[in-house]
Amino acid sequence: MKPPYGDAEKLTFGRMFTEHMYTIKYKDGKGWYDGKIEKYRPFMMEPAACVFHYSQEVFEGLKAYKTSDGRVLLFRPEQNARRLNRSARKLCMPELPEETFLSALKELVLLEKDWIPDAPGTSLYIRPTMIASEAFLGVNSAKEYLFYIILSPVGAYFKAGFNPVSIYVEDQLVRAAVGGVGDIKTGGNYAASLLGGMKAEKKGFSQVLWLDAKEHQYVEEVGAMNVFFVFGEKLVTPMLTGSILPGITRDSVLKLAHEMGYEVEERRIAIDEVLEGIKTGKLTEIFGSGTAAVISPVGLLHYQDTNYYINDNQVGKLTRSFYEHLVDIQYGHVEDKLGWSYELK
Ligand SMILES: Cc1ncc(COP(=O)(O)O)c(C=O)c1O
Repeated sequence: MKPPYGDAEKLTFGRMFTEHMYTIKYKDGKGWYDGKIEKYRPFMMEPAACVFHYSQEVFEGLKAYKTSDGRVLLFRPEQNARRLNRSARKLCMPELPEETFLSALKELVLLEKDWIPDAPGTSLYIRPTMIASEAFLGVNSAKEYLFYIILSPVGAYFKAGFNPVSIYVEDQLVRAAVGGVGDIKTGGNYAASLLGGMKAEKKGFSQVLWLDAKEHQYVEEVGAMNVFFVFGEKLVTPMLTGSILPGITRDSVLKLAHEMGYEVEERRIAIDEVLEGIKTGKLTEIFGSGTAAVISPVGLLHYQDTNYYINDNQVGKLTRSFYEHLVDIQYGHVEDKLGWSYELK
């Protein structure tokens, strides 16, 4: 029988949604109530709903993977539950109990098991979202919220092979400032990144590397990924200063690097240091980390009208090793020694 998502080869990202979703409501004084799985459908919302005006919205992104023997695995989903609540706290939204988050995920994904593609690199993307649903105009924290989870079968990220991407280093526009909300997953951060993304795309680059808001000098993150630099056998990544998202893949790479015996540094990294490293050959690899790509090799940085090629635009040894290691755990190809896989059954 044909799977519900059709041809796995034709799947892209975030265009197709499964038949069901999970919803639960919240009211001040009552707490979370009426959690249920229902058919995927448009919401009826008042035009005055707070989320449309003042952006009280937070979300998460993770994936369900089907193993070759048909098991369903999530990757560190408790971290997404925790990060959602961190995001919620910062926008004065109610926290959702982690058990509610995880049991809703489990029930919904198992119900939609047939929607999880099993071709290499494919998965079922999970989008938990919380919005302020109360209808009122005024800059106050809302008293009513809706949390929901929708699912989307997605194709392999590296359809044309595990190839390096070219990145535009943005030195004018900024994504987020320390003290703001750059370290949480809220829609406004992504809206704020669109102009930079369009600028990069027009110049022929696939993503933007953001620099810090104050000095336009220190490396922050890439689009929807954290960023890593390999100096010989040392792995360096920007420290969490409050303006970048603490990625779950970032944390996993850091833990794997420790396990593998690499020296790791979380610190501020100036773009000048990066460019100097490329020029002298001391910087041998750059890669991004995030749920969508897992690991994305970077072959070129474009900064102030100059192209800087990394490792001759070839995928580096460590980049490939982290990618394979993480994918092997996510798809259950290897024993999960770190306790990161969460089997749904
Ligand atoms: C802005 C931003 N940075 C980094 C990441 C990587 O985070 P994770 O590894 O948890 O997917 C994401 C993706 O969620 C993101 O949107």
